[in-house]
Amino acid sequence: MSNQSFRILSNLRRLQLRQSQFRKYGPAFISRWQSTTHSKEERNRRLPDDGVTLSHFISNSQSNSKPANEQGEDIGPIPISAPLGIESSQFSNRVLKFHLKTYGCQMNVSDSDIVRSILLDENATFSGNQISFEETQEEMDADILLTNTCAIRENAESKVWQRLRELRAHDNKNPLEKLTIVEAEEENEDRLENAVRFGKKKKAQKRKRIIGVLGCMAERLKEDMFKDGTADLIVGPDAYRDLPRLINALAPKPISTTGQPLYETPMMERALNVELSFDETYADITPVRANPGDVSAFVSVMRGCNNMCSYCVVPFTRGRERSRELESIVEEARILYEQSGVKEICLLGQNVNSYHDRSENAILTNPALETAGNEDDHSKKDIYKAGYQTSNDGFSNMFRLRGGAGYYFVDLVEAVSNISPELRVRFTSPHPKDYPPELLSLMAERHNVCNHLHMPAQSGSSTVLERMRRGYTREAYMELIDDVRSTIPDVAITSDFITGFCGETEEEHEDTLSLMDHVKYDQAFMFAYSMRGKTHANRTMTDDVPDEVKSRRLQEVISMFRTNIQIRNDELEVGKLRLLLVEGESRRSKEGARTWGGRTDQNKRVVFPISGETPECWSEESVRPILNALNRTYPSNTMIRSDLFHDFARSPKVEIQAGDYALVQVDDARGHTLRGKLMWRASMQGFHEMGLDQSDLGLFGSLLTK
Ligand code: 5AD
Ligand code: SF4
Repeated sequence: MSNQSFRILSNLRRLQLRQSQFRKYGPAFISRWQSTTHSKEERNRRLPDDGVTLSHFISNSQSNSKPANEQGEDIGPIPISAPLGIESSQFSNRVLKFHLKTYGCQMNVSDSDIVRSILLDENATFSGNQISFEETQEEMDADILLTNTCAIRENAESKVWQRLRELRAHDNKNPLEKLTIVEAEEENEDRLENAVRFGKKKKAQKRKRIIGVLGCMAERLKEDMFKDGTADLIVGPDAYRDLPRLINALAPKPISTTGQPLYETPMMERALNVELSFDETYADITPVRANPGDVSAFVSVMRGCNNMCSYCVVPFTRGRERSRELESIVEEARILYEQSGVKEICLLGQNVNSYHDRSENAILTNPALETAGNEDDHSKKDIYKAGYQTSNDGFSNMFRLRGGAGYYFVDLVEAVSNISPELRVRFTSPHPKDYPPELLSLMAERHNVCNHLHMPAQSGSSTVLERMRRGYTREAYMELIDDVRSTIPDVAITSDFITGFCGETEEEHEDTLSLMDHVKYDQAFMFAYSMRGKTHANRTMTDDVPDEVKSRRLQEVISMFRTNIQIRNDELEVGKLRLLLVEGESRRSKEGARTWGGRTDQNKRVVFPISGETPECWSEESVRPILNALNRTYPSNTMIRSDLFHDFARSPKVEIQAGDYALVQVDDARGHTLRGKLMWRASMQGFHEMGLDQSDLGLFGSLLTK
């Protein structure tokens, strides 16, 4: 769209926002709140030509200042932050229903919980506004249809376009209601009364649902998402606090009259806020989880990414890295554990392990080494904590701003795992550069920090990695894998791979296959390369690997993964005793063949059959005396006193619920899904204290599974 077409919204005047208010908020208001209008009304709705346009605003957000990476290059958009510019105190009370659908990664799922919290907050976020929201699971029951979107690959975006078209078509077929809309005189002072008294015309209209696009695609495409008339509302990932206000501007407002209900024209026809922020972490917002019964919860710890991998659009859609204060994270995790029955916290961030809390409190508590005194006075841990260190010398950082005072990721993991030895801690999604030895040692030491490391390699070829700007070589990565496996016994390693990146040759692709064969990943997420606008690759490289070659290579990496995971699970998992966090009945469970499932420490899913409606098994208390004896006398079970067996056989069985830990003996592996036999309900501490020989429970094992 041209600059001209964005000379915005004299709609304001028609809606009697007082001139003083407009003078007060003027350009800031415009820059945060955009509207486009249909041609006939456009002339009336234009603002005085103050030189501020939407494209001005958008380009400002990218060129205010230019941060540079170590090579001194522009590393993308600088978020700007402007104050909210409008108060809406004059609207009448109403309830609007919203439906929220989420696409994409876990970060989006977590953001949707934040959106839900903002909309359901009874203390409306802007003063005097009486709007309130309710969530509905039925699309056609909603006034507002929100879609939280992903932009990482083209096919993710195609799905969203398709959905928006379908929503608009459904909406056209099933209008909410017929409304009588009153268009007010232009200069009326008292908006509500005069709208009725001097109403220019009344017309019956269909009430359209508001179709809103949130998240990465909204941020990437900005006003282009208005095309085709499918979307009315565009809100980027850092602007969710503004949602009630934007929706309020789009919704027709009931006017209190006697007789037939009347509505006034919405203040806006389209609204957009795509500002990125340097500091928004939504730290003070308690997410409203879509599935509050889940035993595992995500806690967002940082947002954004500074890495600028050359293929990736995320830094452009999610903005710059910023970390939430350690204390607020620990508090949220504690409440989830103590009050909501959550047993597993997954720390969440685009680049989770480059977490760095630089808040005042963090800096005071953890000063940088230079300010803390002589280096000789400090332990290795202090030195690490006071500075920043990559996984090994073969890893480098794209971004200069690293190190110094504050809390690092290892401090955060330690603090969250201190909440309770019965609370599991995981994290996603990390970068391989930020696995310093301190973090690996902590993971090895703590039973409740899961033995699972996601180490997205992306490619096994050093030359491709260089073009991808990943900041490491194949050799550095492989050295890290060795360190991880020697430090953390029984660790699961997972990865992401991209096939057919710009210029990828057959030899380079073979390097990826050989890396996969060498590492034998426990899980892998594999994708064909999709060129994204604005990225370094888009600006400087050619997407020259034909689609069919990308797909063939993708099939090859998938089959390499599948072959190896089968071998690995057959060797390492079958016959093992695993502690599961039980999640509940499996998706494939059915009458007559019920199964429940859970996840191991290594994040592997295990399903186990049950005989009745709910699982029943022995308890840790009844099993413990025998296991203690077994451990003392192992391998000779005959020495266990018969009275122990007698007591055990008479002990009652207990019911298992979602959120319990349970011991399962794995007896089959199908790809990366495991099957097993339920043995006994456990506690994490109890299990580790027993110090079991995991692979052989001897005679007792068969007794337990009866
Ligand atoms: N094309 C294909 N895959 C991509 N990813 C990121 N950007 C692209 C792209 N342009 C993959 C990476 C990343 C995962 C989340 O998505 O493997 O780790
Ligand atoms: Fe994208 Fe790389 Fe950042 Fe991951 S680390 S979000 S792949 S730029």
